Order: sequence, then C-alpha cells, then structure tokens
Amino acid sequence: MTELMRQPDKMSRIRDEIRSLIGENKHVQESDISRLPYLQAVVKETFRLHPAGPFLVPHKAVSDVEINGYMVPKDAQILVNVWASGRDPCTWVESDAFMPERFLDHNIDYRGKDFELIPFGAGRRTCPGLPLAHRMVHLMLATLIHNFGWELEIKSKEIDMNEKFGLTLQKAIPLRAVPTKL
Ligand code: HEM
Repeated sequence: MTELMRQPDKMSRIRDEIRSLIGENKHVQESDISRLPYLQAVVKETFRLHPAGPFLVPHKAVSDVEINGYMVPKDAQILVNVWASGRDPCTWVESDAFMPERFLDHNIDYRGKDFELIPFGAGRRTCPGLPLAHRMVHLMLATLIHNFGWELEIKSKEIDMNEKFGLTLQKAIPLRAVPTKL
C-alpha cells in the first residue's frame, strides 16, 4: 500500500485491472488472482523490496560444508540475507526502484525455485504457510484497492520509507492512510 500510494499511477493500474475483470459490484475471489497479472507483479515486487523475513529464519549447519569456496563449519548459524539479494544490482535493473512491470514479462516466482526471489525461503524448511499467505496477500490488497480510494492522513508530509529490522521487517513509521469513497 505504501509503495502504491507513492506512485498513484500504479495504484490506478491495479484498480483498472480489477474493475475490468470483476466489475464494480462483485467482490474479488481467490479464483480471480491468476487472472490479475499486474496485481501479482505488485505483490512480487513488494516481496522483493520488503521481504517480511529479511534474513529468513536462522538455520544451522549440521556438518562442515563447502559452498562456492567458502567453508561453513558445523553448528554455524546461517542467516540468508534476502533483503540484500532482492536489491542486488547485479540481478535487478534499477534495483531500488518499485517497478512491478519488471515481472510482467518474466516467470520469476517466489515459491523457492528462483533463488533471486525467495521471501518464503527455499528447500525443505521453506514456509509451509506460503499457499495461504499467497492467497491472503493478493485477496486483501485487491479488496482494499477495489473498494476504496486511499489518501494520506496528513497529505503535506512525504511518506517515510525507513525500515525497522528484526526477525520481521516493518516500516519504522507505520503508513496512515484514509479510505475514501470511489
Ligand atoms: C507473507 C506471509 C509470510 C511470509 C513472507 C513468510 C515467510 C517465511 C519464511 C522466510 C520462513 C523461513 C524459511 C527459511 O528459513 O527457509 C517461514 C517459515 C515458516 N512459516 Fe512462514 N511466512 C508467511 C506466512 C506464513 C503463514 C500464513 C504461516 C502459517 C499458517 C506460516 C508458517 C510458517 C512456519 C510453520 C515456518 C517454519 C517452517 C520450518 O522451519 O520448517 N508462514 N515463513
């Protein structure tokens, strides 16, 4: 919501996409998600720039292992910095910019097969809640945008984009947005 409120043209693009598929009088359903490519691209771009778990969940090496010339000793704690890999300029064009369009022509997905985008982790300890989270995030975002316009509570202020790092990533100052009648 924050990124979309900073770029109202992208907010309008999602709303137009939803309205042209669903119309004004019906609610968005789970089954609609696969037919809303721009909404999906916005969610991917959000997981790329603002992963909910910036270092995944701490892992531990069960034995000495060498990866790409680096020795990881047994029992070492391993944090995977997906916040950094999501912003790596060697992988992503204009890596700090919120540009959902980058996903429209690519099949990159966040289900654990494309290692450049793993906000839910990958492999045997990947997030088992992914299917639920996938549905809920799309459904909630689409419903908020489909039913309401959104304005900043204090319009004159720039949106603060600072982040607060921890096990989960949060906005340092929460977004305060006011729904308006469309
Ligand atoms: C946007 C929502 C969510 C995100 C971004 C997310 C992300 C993650 C991440 C990054 C991990 C660690 C993976 C790793 O270290 O390799 C994880 C683990 C886990 N998640 Fe989620 N998660 C989400 C929602 C959920 C939901 C809705 C549930 C349950 C209904 C859930 C249950 C779990 C559990 C049980 C684990 C531990 C799995 C294990 O260690 O074997 N998550 N999640």
